[in-house]
Amino acid sequence: MDVKYILKEARYYKKITGLSRAIKKFLFTQTFFSNFVNGKIYQRFYQNAINKKSKKIKPRILQIENTNLCNAKCIMCPHVVMKREKKLMSFEDFKKIVDNVLNSYDIKRITMNGFGEPFVDKGVIDKIKYINEKYPHVKIDIYTNASILTPDLSEKLLKAKVDRITFSINGTKKNYKKIMGLEYDNTKKNVLYFHKRRREMNHPVLTNLSVMILDENKDDVQEFVKFWEPIADSVRAYVPSDWAGGVKNIIQIPPFKHNKRWPCFVLWSNITVDVNGNMVMCCRDYESKVSFGNLLKQDIKEIRNSEDFKKLLRKQLKFDFKTPVCDSCDNILESSIDWVC
Ligand SMILES: C[S@@+](CC[C@H](N)C(=O)[O-])C[C@H]1O[C@@H](n2cnc3c(N)ncnc32)[C@H](O)[C@@H]1O
Ligand code: SF4
Repeated sequence: MDVKYILKEARYYKKITGLSRAIKKFLFTQTFFSNFVNGKIYQRFYQNAINKKSKKIKPRILQIENTNLCNAKCIMCPHVVMKREKKLMSFEDFKKIVDNVLNSYDIKRITMNGFGEPFVDKGVIDKIKYINEKYPHVKIDIYTNASILTPDLSEKLLKAKVDRITFSINGTKKNYKKIMGLEYDNTKKNVLYFHKRRREMNHPVLTNLSVMILDENKDDVQEFVKFWEPIADSVRAYVPSDWAGGVKNIIQIPPFKHNKRWPCFVLWSNITVDVNGNMVMCCRDYESKVSFGNLLKQDIKEIRNSEDFKKLLRKQLKFDFKTPVCDSCDNILESSIDWVC
């Protein structure tokens, strides 16, 4: 692998996770140390870490689905099979949910999307500005397909405080339309404009370009990385997840080699809210199968202290993963690493 590329990625991960966490995560997932993970020494050390940390850890990330409408038709995304009603979250509901959570927890980061394209929501900039003004210390993350991120919208977004944008491009000119059902030249123009203005404004927002490695584009991934690497802060190529079984019948998922399974850190650290205000299991719960309560009607602490939610955490600590969504999740190694990083 190209050293320049590795150093650039390391700089990016240092900025988003801090140096020590970035190094541990890299060593535990990308090097021969991944063999050590789940070995006997690791298990002993690790089980202690979980038991201690689970008593102390408080939610620090809020993921909020401002809309579950999407203008694309990505072949690998659970959006194509999602059955729940597609809609926008109103500004009033958005404020209520954000205030509900941030009045109770010291949230460090808000991810402004769920299973939809955030810019289909014409009110998305106002929602971002609301967080900027009322909670200026909170970092904002956003994932977008960039197809409707026009120059005008880019200007507005760059005027607001956003900390990180992931552009999900998922292909080159040759295969993009087949994969995402969108026009490559239009998306490329939007992403290049955003980067040009970011440079001119010397704006601190971090950018990430992501591509999923699929049968349709696997021969062109190098070309993708080569083109976008000098432009963005990070370029990430990765194999798709089957999204807790959601897309396993739609695309080919390479067999996932994982070791022992561990309690899932995100259940403690993240709060995932769908477009109707339900606190759902996690970002894998694309169908909102498991809801623990509704943030438009209940206080977040009431939901997190509910018997149902506490029972889920207890089950996880006993290594019992027989719960809808968890029972079919393939995001296992990542969730294990987080307890010690
Ligand atoms: C569900 S999308 C929602 C936000 C926005 N519409 C977008 O495309 O970035 C969030 C991220 O999930 C990724 N994604 C979609 N299907 C996936 C799969 N099967 N495995 C892993 N990631 C996937 C997308 O490429 C995107 O980066
Ligand atoms: S990956 Fe994003 S753009 Fe593609 S269908 Fe899913 S939500 Fe829409």
